[in-house]
Amino acid sequence: MDAASFILFGATGDLAKRKIFPALYNLYLDQKLPAQFTVFGLGRRQWDDHIFKANVAQSIHSFSRKKVEDPAQLEKFLESFQFCILDANKQEDYVKLRTMIETREQQLGAAPNRMFYLSVGPEFFEMIAEHIDQSGLGSESGWKRFVIEKPFGHDLQSARQLNRKLNETFKEEEIFRIDHYLGKPMVQRLEVLQQKNPVLQALWTNRYIANIQITANETVGVEERSGYYDKTGAVRDMFQNHMLQLLMMLTAHFPNNSTTEAVRFKKKMVMEAVQPLHPHQVSNQVIRGQYNSGSINGEPVTSYREEPGIANDSMNDTFIAAKLEIDDYFWRGVPFYIRTGKRLKEKSTRIVIEFKEPIKQSTGADIPVPNLLVFEIAPDESIFFQLNARDPIYKEQIKPLFLDFQVDSKDLPEAYENLIHDAWHGDATFFAHWDEVELSWKWVQPILDAFAANTVPLHLYEAGSFGPKQSDELLNKDGFHWWFDE
Ligand code: BG6
Repeated sequence: MDAASFILFGATGDLAKRKIFPALYNLYLDQKLPAQFTVFGLGRRQWDDHIFKANVAQSIHSFSRKKVEDPAQLEKFLESFQFCILDANKQEDYVKLRTMIETREQQLGAAPNRMFYLSVGPEFFEMIAEHIDQSGLGSESGWKRFVIEKPFGHDLQSARQLNRKLNETFKEEEIFRIDHYLGKPMVQRLEVLQQKNPVLQALWTNRYIANIQITANETVGVEERSGYYDKTGAVRDMFQNHMLQLLMMLTAHFPNNSTTEAVRFKKKMVMEAVQPLHPHQVSNQVIRGQYNSGSINGEPVTSYREEPGIANDSMNDTFIAAKLEIDDYFWRGVPFYIRTGKRLKEKSTRIVIEFKEPIKQSTGADIPVPNLLVFEIAPDESIFFQLNARDPIYKEQIKPLFLDFQVDSKDLPEAYENLIHDAWHGDATFFAHWDEVELSWKWVQPILDAFAANTVPLHLYEAGSFGPKQSDELLNKDGFHWWFDE
């Protein structure tokens, strides 16, 4: 693998501490980093290399998936870390950084391959890109990559503007937009599961599928992010990105051994086929909720409006459920129900595929429960298939039987390990292409407009529940219900 510099903006922040350093360490242990690499941590704090390394070590001890078994090995890993005090506004700081990076590259005899990783708020993206350009940091002969985290814009218009700006410095193929749901091992399995299993391929159509449910429920509330979250809400924070990415990954019909381009093309086709929401449909197809007080795992919790930093009349959405349809040959007529929210009963990210009941028509016999294929993405990974079988004791009874595959998530790489590894290799398959991002904003824009204009009711739901009852009604009126809400 190419030697390269990992240039981390926001190296003193929370994401770096919890996710990025542990991910780098696990990749190092798995020998998935280049033999020669340097991590340049950037931040405004008056840190030196010594303090920086101590912080990285601390983060690894606290958050790494694999525990530190050999302190000497950790020391060796930390030798590749350097700190540079940088104010993202100041051009002269980038010039200083450039000198530092060049010195190191010369010491190592390494090519100027540079991965700029922005673990900072989106308001800094344009400015940093511009300074990288002007300081010459990005104009060397090696490769350069610009890795950014969602949110990409605040709505369709601002996302387009941001993209135009970034394209002045970086080409589309140099921009790696992280959607960490695409790094989750179960989500990464979907492509191959479908490609390599003729049985699944055969079933993957409106001929056999009655409906599909995609859920990402969280127990946490707004946490310490009131400033960000109250301007963002569940639609922008989760739905426009993670939820629609899950939809694309599940429903795209990927060709065998697909290339990055093919995967992206198929995902784009899905988003293009999602029936647009007209403003008058929003109140029928979208449920907006906000958590009230309640209890989670026996602990009382306050309402959203009582959270520190949230206005007591905030209309922000902490829950959304939506129904949509993909108008293409495979999926026409299959309703998709997608929901996500905070302060719900349990942490659970899952996809449920509910199959139709063809037997019923042919035999007239009732079947007790439909066949279900379930992908559990979090907190633990599993895939199970619910079939119907004769009860071995009470033989007149038909009972569900589960074919179950489970993995202990401790044995699996974390999303950030997968994504940092791929970005380092220049593999953009599991990163969001601009086309997908733009189409996703386009689809949610009528929802954002309706929420802003308050033409959709805001339903308060009890913390610790499964969201507002109107979300159940969204399915009940089609004759379905959310599976596993118990
Ligand atoms: C982030 C959101 O993108 O995803 C958070 O900003 C949310 O609000 C988080 O809590 C959920 O991620 P995961 O991996 O815990 O499901």
